[in-house]
Amino acid sequence: MLLAIEAAEANIALMAGRFAGGTRLRPHGKSHKCAELAHRQIRAGAIGLTTATAWEAVAFVNRGIKDVLVANQVVGAEKVAALAAAAREARVTVAVDDAGHARHLAEAAGRAGSTFGVLVEVDVGLARCGVRTPEAAVQLAQAVARLPGLALRGVMGYEGHRALEPDEKARNEGINAAMARLIAAVEALAAAGFPAAIVSAGGTSTAAVTGRLPGITEIQAGSYVLMDNARGPVTPEFQNALTILATVVSRHDTTVVLDTGRKTIGLEMAAPAIAGVTATLRRSGDEHLVFELKEPGPLRVGDQVEVIPGYVPTTVNLHEAYLVMRGGVVVDVWPVLARGAGNSWVP
Ligand SMILES: Cc1ncc(COP(=O)(O)O)c(C=O)c1O
Repeated sequence: MLLAIEAAEANIALMAGRFAGGTRLRPHGKSHKCAELAHRQIRAGAIGLTTATAWEAVAFVNRGIKDVLVANQVVGAEKVAALAAAAREARVTVAVDDAGHARHLAEAAGRAGSTFGVLVEVDVGLARCGVRTPEAAVQLAQAVARLPGLALRGVMGYEGHRALEPDEKARNEGINAAMARLIAAVEALAAAGFPAAIVSAGGTSTAAVTGRLPGITEIQAGSYVLMDNARGPVTPEFQNALTILATVVSRHDTTVVLDTGRKTIGLEMAAPAIAGVTATLRRSGDEHLVFELKEPGPLRVGDQVEVIPGYVPTTVNLHEAYLVMRGGVVVDVWPVLARGAGNSWVP
């Protein structure tokens, strides 16, 4: 797994530049799972990191990140306890969409002698986690407020169902509709005496629009650092910084077979592509990708190519480390944290 660090640094600077004042950037660390990239994002102005799992949050805190948001529900005694211990070292905020989550967080915080920040997660149309109505947001906020060890900080709502809409106008309308649902919850909470200090939303391809909406305070974009084929068409201003180095193992007419497959590259959401080569993915196996070249090309058995992933988070999760390239030369090796089942890299 190759990381073109110049491209990653350019992506970090570009996104940071959009959120230098007003709405702030709290990049999603699930996309890279890498402390070295996280610290570069913080140095560029990010206010902390977002994570999908408790283990990612613990790993980042153990590597010096002082403010993390777990933008997901955390369920399970071991995970909640590890997070509560991390909350002694750093500011840890966790999303909840059920009073049971909040109770478990409060109990663990009590045992660890720490405090959790809490965001009420609001379903803004993705139909994944999140309370379904503003009334439910208020009820949950009331339950959180009654618990010790928890500080209600606001709300989050992820408009991921609108992220890959190719038509810009339709995408923007979808984002606005989704964020209207989040702001309705913010207003209901304020009316009930729970003003939201944090209103967190946004991904790579929605950040530019979501981040300008009144009331949004934080953006959770993540994949922009590395980029992939899913987001490339909607955010061409970011460069591909992550590729998988593959070898041509078979070639017949215009059919090229590479020795990378589902065990080394994420195909979710979009097909991978060979960098600099016009070819269509025909088939994928665990150890093979079969491409059809548009026209007879120069690729021969033994040639090496770089493959741009369809989806970065699942690609990164398959690898133990980044080979960091500067000027086309490997200059460092950076571990991938909290990968696989999640806690294997947590010391
Ligand atoms: C809750 C949440 N926030 C933010 C993101 C970041 O989105 P992206 O990777 O497009 O930047 C994701 C990605 O799935 C997510 O699940």
